[in-house]
Amino acid sequence: MEHFADHCAMCHANDGSGDTLLGKNMYPKPPDMRETVTQRKTDGELYYTIQNGVRLSGMPAFGEEHGTGDQDTWKLVLFIRHLPKLMPEEQKEMGRLNPKTAEEREEEKEEEDFLRGDNPPGKDSKAQHSHCQGEISDNSITVETTAKGTGEKTTTTVVIVADTKFTKNDSPATLKDLKVGDRVVIHAAKKGDQLEAHMVRIWALKGAARPH
Ligand code: HEC
Repeated sequence: MEHFADHCAMCHANDGSGDTLLGKNMYPKPPDMRETVTQRKTDGELYYTIQNGVRLSGMPAFGEEHGTGDQDTWKLVLFIRHLPKLMPEEQKEMGRLNPKTAEEREEEKEEEDFLRGDNPPGKDSKAQHSHCQGEISDNSITVETTAKGTGEKTTTTVVIVADTKFTKNDSPATLKDLKVGDRVVIHAAKKGDQLEAHMVRIWALKGAARPH
């Protein structure tokens, strides 16, 4: 599972569906490996594909990396067999094991610093979205942002819209899960003269360490 999350999921997705940005832009596309087309293949065929790749396609050969007859490849075959029965918890666990892009790591670090209180809430360099912490009312969150240079404080209202996504401690959540006093990290974008929340990440315990 770790190996798949780390080496295969960028094309095949954690659930084997192939529904990834990279996968969707490939021709031929990675197949949905949960479907019979893949599941009907023999272990030997799957093993061969992983070891040797698929010529003239995006599917790389892992044989050299794994070494011939390496157990890793057989484990991957077993994991592909397991894909149709993959549990949501397993998929979540894999999310943690997926390689991160530099940008994602940067964003995670910013959030971590921010949650620790090291970094005063402020607009990040991209100015497109901001990470901020706030007080919660019914359909908006009032946030106080501190300008990085001047330390000047401004109060902004972040509006929650129909497609605002929520997560609580990294699990999907809804507005109802948001309690006054929660620490939230909001990814918001400027819409006209207000900020609209794209994503509200809720961390239940004040000052709680991120789970990873
Ligand atoms: C760079 C993208 C990419 C990566 C990384 C990748 N694959 Fe693939 N894979 C593909 C594509 C594209 C195909 C479809 C090839 C075709 O049909 O011609 C494929 C096909 C396959 C197939 C054949 C499925 C079938 O039904 O024939 C298997 C099995 C497979 N990949 C396993 C893996 C495993 C295991 C890993 C990680 C060790 C991996 N792949 C990594 C892109 C990728």
